[in-house]
Amino acid sequence: MQPIRVLTGITTSGTPHLGNYVGAIRPAIQASLATGVESYYFLADYHALIKIDEPARIQRSTLEIAASWIACGLDPERVTFYRQSDIPEIPELTWFLTCVCGKGLLNRAHAYKAAVDKNTLAEVDPDADVTAGLFMYPVLMAADILMFNAHRVPVGRDQIQHIEMARDMASSFNHRYGEHFVLPEAQIEESVATLPGLDGRKMSKSYDNTIPLFAPREQLRKLIAGIKTDSRAPGEPKETEGSALFQIYQAFANPTETAALRQAYADGIAWADAKQVLFERIDHEIAPMREKYEALMRHPEQLEAMLLAGAAKARKIATPFTTKLRHAVGLRDLRSQEAGKKERKDKAALPSFKQYRESDGQFYFKFVDAQGKLLLQSPGYASPKDAGQTIRMLQEDAASLSRLQLGAAEGASLPEVAAALQQLRDAA
Ligand code: TRP
Repeated sequence: MQPIRVLTGITTSGTPHLGNYVGAIRPAIQASLATGVESYYFLADYHALIKIDEPARIQRSTLEIAASWIACGLDPERVTFYRQSDIPEIPELTWFLTCVCGKGLLNRAHAYKAAVDKNTLAEVDPDADVTAGLFMYPVLMAADILMFNAHRVPVGRDQIQHIEMARDMASSFNHRYGEHFVLPEAQIEESVATLPGLDGRKMSKSYDNTIPLFAPREQLRKLIAGIKTDSRAPGEPKETEGSALFQIYQAFANPTETAALRQAYADGIAWADAKQVLFERIDHEIAPMREKYEALMRHPEQLEAMLLAGAAKARKIATPFTTKLRHAVGLRDLRSQEAGKKERKDKAALPSFKQYRESDGQFYFKFVDAQGKLLLQSPGYASPKDAGQTIRMLQEDAASLSRLQLGAAEGASLPEVAAALQQLRDAA
């Protein structure tokens, strides 16, 4: 059986915290042990450049994240673990995808839209402080995924749109150049908890409420002591509901341990004691990994070698695949001319819309079949937007043809127009 390829990227823009461990690292490493899957994990350092312009922080974060994943048990022999910037084929594929990606698709990306909304609210230029890197983020991410033809991409909910965009770009490319890409699917882990942070909100770097995964033991103890609780005194029963401390405990403990702490809450355990229980439970799981982590951090050359070996493994796929893609788009050895004719025919096999402006200043479109025969001639529209909207309606909605009351061109029939429109929809 063909293995399922699972791929995920980790942006190298911070230090891993307990939330990352519970929400991403631990489940990903667990999943990599399953049979019938081929896992690709990579450090998305090109993506980090979009957010961070401090070179030392990029390097530091790359080191820390690589060390963390290995310390937590990722086996680089079993999976392909690499650094994005070691794969020059990825920026190349980014460009190919850029050329098939509608700009409008990128305009609708949540992160970009949020930046524009913020600027609009502040009454400054909508694109103020928006880099083209931020705008292009989804294309780079699509290249990451499509380069290895990943079937599944485990991500958080906030990334679902990016996976949908990757699917879009994959099908646009396939449509133009043949079936090269698998359409990836987002994999959302429902059972994985989001961990609350020190203040009870979701643990996140942006809230500054995190507990670093590999904080030294004493620092871990101090941080845990700082978790927000209510003011109930020792002896008073405590609520587990809404208790960040309890939720964090649950993410580490087995059901029996969790039940025991629930009972202790009911029995009025002092917050200080509950914190001690949590601290010991986390430290019990983390301590052996922390030791490995510290050893790796002392030997960056070992991590560097691991990543380079991972890149070599990844490029065994990326390099030949890119050769194939270059050929597909027409970046070719000039001596190979044979294929040219046949492709033109493939390309013309679909009906299409053509938009234009007449000397009367109005905007028109026509719809022609694969051989160029005129099927439909539009009336004039005041703006290209009106013409475009009508085209979109015809493309998307089978009922719109009769609703718009457009007549077929001379020598064509309405059923013929409808069939050609259907052909377009099927190909989309
Ligand atoms: N955008 C992802 C995040 O912020 C990181 C990422 C980059 C990624 N490339 C990817 C995730 C490819 C999955 C697949 O979490």
